[in-house]
Amino acid sequence: MTGIVLGKGSGGRAAGGRPVGSTNALTKSLFIRTYGCQMNAYDSGRMADVMTPHGYRLVAEPADADLILLNTCHIREKAAEKTFSELGRLRQLKELRASAGRRTLVAVAGCVAQAEGAELQARAPFVDIVLGPQTYHRLPELVAQVERRAGAVLDTEFPAESKFDHLPDGSSASTASAFLAVQEGCDKFCTFCVVPYTRGAEYSRPPASILAEARALLSRGAVELVLLGQNVNAYHGAAGGETWSLARLIDALAELPGLQRLRYTTSHPLDMGDDLIARHRDCAKLMPYLHLPVQAGSDRVLTAMNRRYRRADYERLVERLRLARPDLALSGDFIVGFPGESDADFAETMDLVRRIGFAQAYSFKYSPRPGTPAAILPGQVPAPVKAERLAALQSLLAEQQRRFNAASVGLTVPVLFEGAGRRAGQSVGRSPHNQSVHVEASCPPGSIRPVRLTASLANSLSGRLAG
Ligand code: 5AD
Ligand code: SF4
Repeated sequence: MTGIVLGKGSGGRAAGGRPVGSTNALTKSLFIRTYGCQMNAYDSGRMADVMTPHGYRLVAEPADADLILLNTCHIREKAAEKTFSELGRLRQLKELRASAGRRTLVAVAGCVAQAEGAELQARAPFVDIVLGPQTYHRLPELVAQVERRAGAVLDTEFPAESKFDHLPDGSSASTASAFLAVQEGCDKFCTFCVVPYTRGAEYSRPPASILAEARALLSRGAVELVLLGQNVNAYHGAAGGETWSLARLIDALAELPGLQRLRYTTSHPLDMGDDLIARHRDCAKLMPYLHLPVQAGSDRVLTAMNRRYRRADYERLVERLRLARPDLALSGDFIVGFPGESDADFAETMDLVRRIGFAQAYSFKYSPRPGTPAAILPGQVPAPVKAERLAALQSLLAEQQRRFNAASVGLTVPVLFEGAGRRAGQSVGRSPHNQSVHVEASCPPGSIRPVRLTASLANSLSGRLAG
């Protein structure tokens, strides 16, 4: 769970407090809480932007807010449950504010809104607005509607028009590293996943609109852009009569003045085209770090997941990527306890991890999601077995991450600084391999400085400026 988010770097930060510049005499306050993925963090920034011309400014505490917005995640049961427990607290807050004569609107956005809109309204009738990920541009209109007639509204359509054409250009955030959505939705239909239902069909933004937003972000001080999409490497944007691949988009972005670093996430192994692999060799601005979820190591499980590749395909792909960029650091997503996963299947996942070597990874227990094909498959794995497998996998992945970080000690690497560290006088940034690095020095956000890495901690490195 993270606090509101403008642009990137929301991890655990309660945002807000930053005046977003009202154009109305009557300023109202907005609190946004964001759950889940980077795309949600990006979307929260856009929703804050779209409310700015309507007089809303961000605040850090829900108790101070006229409009409270939860941007929710439905990917696993635990994530969705957080919405409902937060709503319990918000009901009390709304009543408390009402007794002090202050009206509070509560809006629920994101994938829980999309998937469970009707249930949400039934379980939490005090929620005023329910809006799905494709209708964020309509938020001001929905707020105005509720203010006018004091009834609740639900908007979980997949409208024909793209929200990207209607949201303001570029997040107002001025962060050194900024998210930029280039693609949304997914047509892959992995049998465990809700994304194709909550985010809809794959949609690629036209290159012109992406380039315009990129320029806006760079002009506000960003030097790194992280291209976002649920299936980002399936990007196919229409430019005139042509279709741009992600590789072509990367070429165009790399030319923009001021741009120093590029990353993209999340990719599907099936869409890793030759041109994109070649960019990892040829484009110096593309950082040597790739999040490439494999999910499982057993072909039987991969087939049941509808991943559409076999383990050997993934291994070959990694080989080709490493040939193109020998120092490429890999990150992955894993699911343990998918229905029917046997001990032998799980052993294949462990074996794959040992063979590939991940610098970083996310791993989860399979969580049945209503409406997805895997939720009704026979052979659901008992909870204790899932827990045991997850512990074993996470311990192996943590060991690999420790080893990867330890191997960086002694190297001097360019670090992009993003802000102040926890301790006074400390600055924090990222290495090309996406490792968090802190130094005892004051380095302005957006500066890239050589740092000699001196020690590795569990999830980060410390270093000294080397020039
Ligand atoms: N259960 C567990 N993990 C899941 N993920 C997606 N759906 C589920 C689910 N039903 C994981 C996948 C995906 C990541 C974003 O979340 O590993 O890559
Ligand atoms: Fe979900 Fe990713 Fe599979 Fe699409 S490719 S269905 S987003 S796991």
